[in-house]
Amino acid sequence: MAPFDDAFAYRTAEGEMLLCAEDVPLARIADALGTPLYCYAAAAIRGRYRAFAEALAASGAAICYALKANDNPAIVRLFTGLGAGADVVSGGELRRALAAGIAPSRIIFSGVGKSEEEIGAALRAGIGQFNVESEPELRAIAHLAAGLGMSAPVALRVNPDIAAGSHEKVSTGRKHDKFGIAFDDAVPLYRAAQSLAALRTVGLAVHIGSQITALAPFEAAFARVVGLARALRAEGLPLERLDLGGGLGIAYGEERPPALADYGALIARLTAGLGLALAVEPGRALVGPAGVLLARVLYVKESERRRIVILDAAMNDLIRPALYGARHPVRLVRAPTKGAPLSPCDLVGPVCETGDTFARDLLLPPVAAGDLLVFGQAGAYGAVMASTYNARPLVPEVLVEGGRFAVIRARPAPSESDALYRLPPWFEG
Ligand code: LLP
Repeated sequence: MAPFDDAFAYRTAEGEMLLCAEDVPLARIADALGTPLYCYAAAAIRGRYRAFAEALAASGAAICYALKANDNPAIVRLFTGLGAGADVVSGGELRRALAAGIAPSRIIFSGVGKSEEEIGAALRAGIGQFNVESEPELRAIAHLAAGLGMSAPVALRVNPDIAAGSHEKVSTGRKHDKFGIAFDDAVPLYRAAQSLAALRTVGLAVHIGSQITALAPFEAAFARVVGLARALRAEGLPLERLDLGGGLGIAYGEERPPALADYGALIARLTAGLGLALAVEPGRALVGPAGVLLARVLYVKESERRRIVILDAAMNDLIRPALYGARHPVRLVRAPTKGAPLSPCDLVGPVCETGDTFARDLLLPPVAAGDLLVFGQAGAYGAVMASTYNARPLVPEVLVEGGRFAVIRARPAPSESDALYRLPPWFEG
């Protein structure tokens, strides 16, 4: 069976076996709010966070949730309650983290292109760490901090030149990638940073990519930065922290990502005796399994031995299949009857391009117009990457907790979607 978190299970409800989010049948949410929509299970997020924290206990690494995976304010607030810090990559994410009550000192600002406005906002908020990715960025932070009479805490994000073995578009740690400071430049730049009064050099950071399903790339990258940390120490340079990034993968299908315990043990082993404060920045592994995209079948089109199931959800709602060739696991909301014949289907959305295909030749039991189904593992990089392509409105997001559910992002009314557009004044009259 395709991988789904235990929070999404079939239960007897309303006299049928229905897929539920915790105790709430997804059909009930669809009836109340319409489809498509994203639905998250709070229990799954809590479960994933606690398992992560337990696995990291031996190393003492702090969890700084990467908001890019899911920046819904209610989700971020859940993480605040669990004791997480945050990894942010824009002024918008910084605002979300602060608004959710995450302590500024526990916020790390990552990313290759922080603007002056963003750096200024982060300095004024008093964030705990800037992960610096280039010399010009280092100078910009120093300049702005000096202007504010502050000393900015900076870590250098190094590029360890390690292939993560994940999708080309989400690999970040090879030397031709745009990320991080070239390994050989790190020591001289750290020295230069150390000499600037408006900077406080606090350590090193590394992040080699996302959806990594083996431990070996982590081990290679962590070993390289640990070596660098020792080299800096040997020169007498101050170093307090090591940020080991995010990237731990999840199972969308047959992948077997490393067990959290093994990931935690690797970190503990490689950093033992360093006396550095550690952090990790997971996103996907915390929220991916906690969300589904709920969709309804609009039409079933039989053509030349292809069975094409047309859904009301499309690539603008969940772009991962179109962008990365990702395959999200599928479940029908109404449990199929035992022994129902399976036949290959293409699952597609209504958007006018062939790329709007969620799955090809997926074996499904009989489906008919009006049926509901979900795409699993959609809690990370789902809603956040949605667009309004084809003038389709962003879909709602719903949080379930036990037997309750609430809308945590509303479906915009057409008037709201249209409100930002203007005609040039010379078009009038
Ligand atoms: N830290 C940094 C600096 C990052 O760039 C990222 C992700 C993370 C942490 C969190 O990585 P995670 O634990 O979620 O793998 N849109 C793509 C994924 C892009 C990831 C970008 N950076 C997808 O849908 O697969």
